[in-house]
Amino acid sequence: MKVSVIIACAGKGERAKQNGNKLFFEYFDEISLTKKAVFLHTLDKFINSNLIDEYIITASYTDYEKISSLVPPFVKVVKGGDSRTQSVKNGLLAVSGDIVLIHDGARPFVSQRIIKDCIESVKAYGSGVTAVPSRDTVCKGNLNIEDYLGKSGLYSVQTPQAFYTKDIINAYERAGDNSFNDDGEVYKAFIGDVRLVQGENKNIKLTYKEDFDALARPQIKMGVGFDCHRLVENRKLILGGIEIPHNKGLLGHSDADVLTHAVMDALLSACGLRDIGYYFPDTDPKFLGADSVKLLEKVIELIRENGYKPKTLSATIMAEKPKLLKIIPTIKENLAMVLGIEVDNLGLGATTLEGLGFVGREEGICAQCSVILERI
Ligand code: CTP
Ligand code: MG
Repeated sequence: MKVSVIIACAGKGERAKQNGNKLFFEYFDEISLTKKAVFLHTLDKFINSNLIDEYIITASYTDYEKISSLVPPFVKVVKGGDSRTQSVKNGLLAVSGDIVLIHDGARPFVSQRIIKDCIESVKAYGSGVTAVPSRDTVCKGNLNIEDYLGKSGLYSVQTPQAFYTKDIINAYERAGDNSFNDDGEVYKAFIGDVRLVQGENKNIKLTYKEDFDALARPQIKMGVGFDCHRLVENRKLILGGIEIPHNKGLLGHSDADVLTHAVMDALLSACGLRDIGYYFPDTDPKFLGADSVKLLEKVIELIRENGYKPKTLSATIMAEKPKLLKIIPTIKENLAMVLGIEVDNLGLGATTLEGLGFVGREEGICAQCSVILERI
């Protein structure tokens, strides 16, 4: 059975205040690893699904040339109308598939699971309309609340909305010039029951300026950090918050936890912030003998305030002695707990420097770290 998709892109995108159609807003996406326009990310999701045989995009007269020049040659671009309903009607005229999915160009976060479920729902029940249970209590009103509609059994309707092509064309023909909220409502009015497909909260329709401001921040950021401390007698050796039995320890204003310092610098660097010397100066008596793990907690708070959290981390300790092999799992667990990530997302290794240089002469220990942060 041939499956088509209509991606509605013929709006003006006025509420988004993006200077022209919001669907041309470009952002970086860690799946495609490229920066491109919203509607091209949306189109990609359907192309990547391998379940779609025909792609149709509706474009306004203003955007027709631009959209046509940006899409692959196998995509049909048709002129839309003044309303979404009219755009979809125009799109339906170009459909040759047996099943059609109708989707908003402004919903680029649609998942492969949703696309598949919509198609299967049509095959099993004749229709499939994506919706999510309402998170909030819904009420009706204007200045005052007139009526509480509740929450249970209430859904927010999303797209895709999928049907047998002949049915939805038939429904739209019967609808004439009457106005409907969406395709599912037209189907329900003239054809029959509309089957719900479980949507996802992340499948939002980019609508307002703030939706775009959030997108402009990268989804992931990476950073590196490095630190080195001198090994001396009569000091504790602390690495990643764990005290390690040894005849020497690291010298520093704080507890000189060289690994935790490299981790903090990597986190701060990823966020585009200053280094640990800036936030915790060694001239400040407040940080004398400080527990570096407590400072790490402050750094995590700081990056959270900047809208990010640690995702993965990888670090290496350079030390001639002691042998760290056995203690590494304990250090990993401790750091993973403080960072709030799974142990599997934290790599930690140790190496000697084969007797070379100051590390080789056991005069000091170094650590380096790289991290990936994810947007909250
Ligand atoms: N759409 C369309 N034809 C129209 C109006 C809207 O194809 N005449 C498309 C939009 O491009 C969008 C989807 O329908 O992908 C959902 O509409 P909406 O989010 O309201 O987008 P716009 O109408 O472009 O935005 P606004 O209402 O803020 O101007
Ligand atoms: Mg609109």
